Amino acid sequence: MSRTPFICGNWKLNHSLAATTEVLTAIRRGLADVDGVEAGIAPVTTCLASACDATSGETKLGIAAQNVFWADKGAYTGEWSVAHLKELGCTYAIIGHSERRQYFNETDEGVGKKVRATLDGGLVPIACVGELLEEREAGKTMDVVHRQVQAIIDNVKADEAATLVIAYEPVWAIGTGKTATAAQAQEVHAAIRGQLREAYGDEADNVRIQYGGSVKPANAAELLSEADVDGALVGGASLDADSFLAIVKAAAN
Ligand code: PGA
Repeated sequence: MSRTPFICGNWKLNHSLAATTEVLTAIRRGLADVDGVEAGIAPVTTCLASACDATSGETKLGIAAQNVFWADKGAYTGEWSVAHLKELGCTYAIIGHSERRQYFNETDEGVGKKVRATLDGGLVPIACVGELLEEREAGKTMDVVHRQVQAIIDNVKADEAATLVIAYEPVWAIGTGKTATAAQAQEVHAAIRGQLREAYGDEADNVRIQYGGSVKPANAAELLSEADVDGALVGGASLDADSFLAIVKAAAN
């Protein structure tokens, strides 16, 4: 089993066009002496073209979209397709982030369709799952995550599993400074791996499962040391090049 750890920064609605180029250039420079880890950054959508230009030819850093639509064209005002992202030079698309589910009414069904479209279009889907605080407190974490993961599995074939990235992000840990403990993360990651194994057999070992939720340079190494934690989806701590690079280096060790 050899899963290359994958650290992706999710900049959400942060950084101007100028700042995007500046921070990406610093990250690119910092990655020059780092090996054995895959890194990505998801800038604001309007900055994707220049982010792809700023990282063009770079093998250690890929650009991710924070969202994508499932249709390839048509009367869908405000949307963009996988083909548009591919044309720019993007590598990944984050799908079903909890903020999209919460503020933009994204559903498990829509997430499944977006994952399918992303694979069909030749990009890597980073599909997000995770429970709300009240769901955790009600003991429903495993049920919620199982349901969300199943909607993804239903749209991914076994021979595509190696391309799939799942991000487990407990919603109560996002942007709150409250990280899941390494043991809490591993418990859910192991359950996801088990569910993947039922669907894909040994191919389940090739799916990367990232943890997300208040990952910082100070806690990254501990989280990443867990057997089924194959990387991180990092919000706040990815906005600064040094802090993001410290997390990437923790994964490389
Ligand atoms: P955070 O965000 O690292 O700021 O908690 C993670 C995410 O939402 O992907």
